[in-house]
Amino acid sequence: MDELQSLSHDALGRIEAAATPEALEEVRIEILGRKGKLAEISKGMAKLSPAERAETGKQLNLFKQKLESELEAKKAQFDEAALTARLNSEWLDLTLPSPGVLPGSIHPITQIQTEIEQLFVSLGFTVLDGPEVETEYNNFDALNIPQDHPARDMQDTFWLSDGHLLRTHTSPVQIRGMKTLGPPLRMIAPGRVFRNEEVDASHEHTFYQLEGMMIDRNVSVANLIYFMKTLLSAVFGREVTVRLRPGYFPFVEPGFELDIQCLICGGEGCPVCKQSGWVELLPCGLVHPNVLKMAGIDPEVWGGFAFGLGLTRLVMMRYGIDDIRWLQSGDLRFAKQF
Ligand code: PHE
Repeated sequence: MDELQSLSHDALGRIEAAATPEALEEVRIEILGRKGKLAEISKGMAKLSPAERAETGKQLNLFKQKLESELEAKKAQFDEAALTARLNSEWLDLTLPSPGVLPGSIHPITQIQTEIEQLFVSLGFTVLDGPEVETEYNNFDALNIPQDHPARDMQDTFWLSDGHLLRTHTSPVQIRGMKTLGPPLRMIAPGRVFRNEEVDASHEHTFYQLEGMMIDRNVSVANLIYFMKTLLSAVFGREVTVRLRPGYFPFVEPGFELDIQCLICGGEGCPVCKQSGWVELLPCGLVHPNVLKMAGIDPEVWGGFAFGLGLTRLVMMRYGIDDIRWLQSGDLRFAKQF
């Protein structure tokens, strides 16, 4: 009983004094552990009389309980202090003003594409989408491009090993539109096209076109010119100098090249217009009867026009971008200007 008494005094003092959870654990092991002081006292109980043993056992249990609850309480203190320290270190001031959202910007190609889409939708056109991986049939055959046409040359077309290809223009969407919607038809199809070309200031292997097609009864070159003029004055917001010259595309007859005077150099000649002062922007023409026939449309009843706007070039002209490579460079100094 004396030993117990002095141990009790000593133990409670040491729990009180423990400065860290580790020190506290040491005290616990030293007293309550399997080889601890309390176990030692228990062993000594064997020498006692049954009556003494009963009394000592009771005291021993009481002491043990007291010790455990003191240890528990002290441990709770440590936990609480640790939590407070953590809360203090991780504290956030939710009332601070935010640093602001850094806005992204819409790529100039997307901007102009959206504008043109809105214009044509207001004129009753439907916006169609087509796949970038196309069949040879849609990209060439159905467009009246004969097997031996130079456009099929391996130099220009990225062929896939399964016989498909990356579309070289948005014209295959004409075929899809005619087949799914039928005449009368007013559609545009903006999208990415691919050509296996040397890259320079005015050529990329990947660029954007915007196809347009209108099929109805009595569509004439006058209708075509009207829509082209509407398009260009909407995009540039002013008169631009244009010239129309004959152009050959197997899927239109007659075919035209609508050029605009280079807006980079004002017509004096620069790398973008290849020193000519003019930029080919809007190839177009009346839909060839063979193309209508192949799409299941009777050319005796229906006729139409088609155009293939060079969206990438148009963007360069409108913003005075002198090198096509800027557009897909991902360079923020470029992108942030729009
Ligand atoms: N698809 C042609 C090209 O990419 C352009 C074009 C479209 C010409 C529609 C006439 C009519 O070169």
